[in-house]
Amino acid sequence: MRIDIITVLPELLKSPFEASILKRAIDANLVEVHFHNLRDYTTDKYKSVDDYQFGGGAGMVMMIEPIDKCISKLQAERHYNDIIYMTPDGERLNQGIANQLSLHQNIIILCGHYKGVDQRVRDQFITKEISIGDYVLSGGELGAAVLCDAIIRLIPGVLGNETSALTDSFQDNLLAPPIYTRPREYKGMKVPEILFSGNFPKIEKWREDQAYKRTEQRRPDLLED
Ligand code: ADE
Repeated sequence: MRIDIITVLPELLKSPFEASILKRAIDANLVEVHFHNLRDYTTDKYKSVDDYQFGGGAGMVMMIEPIDKCISKLQAERHYNDIIYMTPDGERLNQGIANQLSLHQNIIILCGHYKGVDQRVRDQFITKEISIGDYVLSGGELGAAVLCDAIIRLIPGVLGNETSALTDSFQDNLLAPPIYTRPREYKGMKVPEILFSGNFPKIEKWREDQAYKRTEQRRPDLLED
């Protein structure tokens, strides 16, 4: 998979890809991540990428021309399955969207800034608009990092244990059950006995029940689907 990220702040975005699972995925050539600084696509001597809103109003708007230049250059090199715009008014990210995107060959992620991008960018280029939650960030970069993490860990071979992404919370619309490790007892707090029974079907049933109970208590909305 190849991910091209268009941003005015590449330095803000790079560190999540330089450690742990994302770094390993890149080092193992399971994913390529390329950063494109939008300012490299302006002809303006001040390298500005934003301008005032037509009709007045507070806040600057990202201009179409540098974005067009960057996306068109990339599209001339390869086909992209999706061109995603990170924005608080997009579709809220969930595991299903991450699963679907992890199957793509090439995607572009455009990070918004200021008030956002000129609507014509959205009309002309964007195939998917994604929000990481109902709150406003200073820009799309942190959202793009969250989205990339959610996608990349699903690419086959990225996680050491192939089954571990499948048992994550949300994969079956249930939250994950409680988990325990050593010691068996800590300051009087005991690990549930069932986990030492050696009876794996029974343990699996217990985990399913716990996952269901936790989902019912914390996220009943997930059970409505
Ligand atoms: N940019 C600003 N806020 C955002 C959000 N909640 N999700 C994605 N991109 C954003």
